[in-house]
Amino acid sequence: MSDHIPTENDIQYLREAVRRRLSPPRAEHSVSVELECAVIARIEGMGEDDIPFLRVAGLLHDLTREVPADEQIRMCNEHKLPLPSDGVLSAAVLHQVTSPLLIASDYPEFAVPEVLEPIRTHTTGEAGMSKAQKILFLADMIEPKRKHSACRNMRTYYYTHTQEEGNLDRSVLLTLKGTVSHLLESGSPVSLKTVKAYNDLCGKPGQ
Ligand SMILES: [Fe+2]
Ligand SMILES: [Fe+2]
Repeated sequence: MSDHIPTENDIQYLREAVRRRLSPPRAEHSVSVELECAVIARIEGMGEDDIPFLRVAGLLHDLTREVPADEQIRMCNEHKLPLPSDGVLSAAVLHQVTSPLLIASDYPEFAVPEVLEPIRTHTTGEAGMSKAQKILFLADMIEPKRKHSACRNMRTYYYTHTQEEGNLDRSVLLTLKGTVSHLLESGSPVSLKTVKAYNDLCGKPGQ
């Protein structure tokens, strides 16, 4: 584990930073994801020392979400970061890999694996996600400021089944299913990582 566990002062500092950098709705979404991560992490039995890292990941996960796609592609090229091989190059997908770049340059003390790894998969998911990756993925979808019915339904689903084994995996799988259906219906490309994440959890016993 990284030496420095983020403190409440760190969290306050980062809340103010995202409020300065992002539009008000995006900043409030980020704070809401931070809080949601902490709630889900406790339910899912994560250690108290791990939770502050997830809160930081929640706060910073959308740091480049409002940066245009061509600028995000430029950031990837500048850092010699390979672009997704499936050719899905929207800002909606790229920000999961460019936000870590901005964290490394502007908030280097928080550029640790516990923060960056969940951010790198928070939109698409991927096969073999860790518990922290699954929690940020789900928190991003079900934080209470999201008003879309699909998000509200997922929220109800997760909190109705917290006593049941495998609830986090089933909730992530259902979220992935909804994402894939939505992308197909709207004629949008589907990230290969999303398909792999779906297949990975779909193939697990009990799903
Ligand atoms: Fe995001
Ligand atoms: Fe988000």
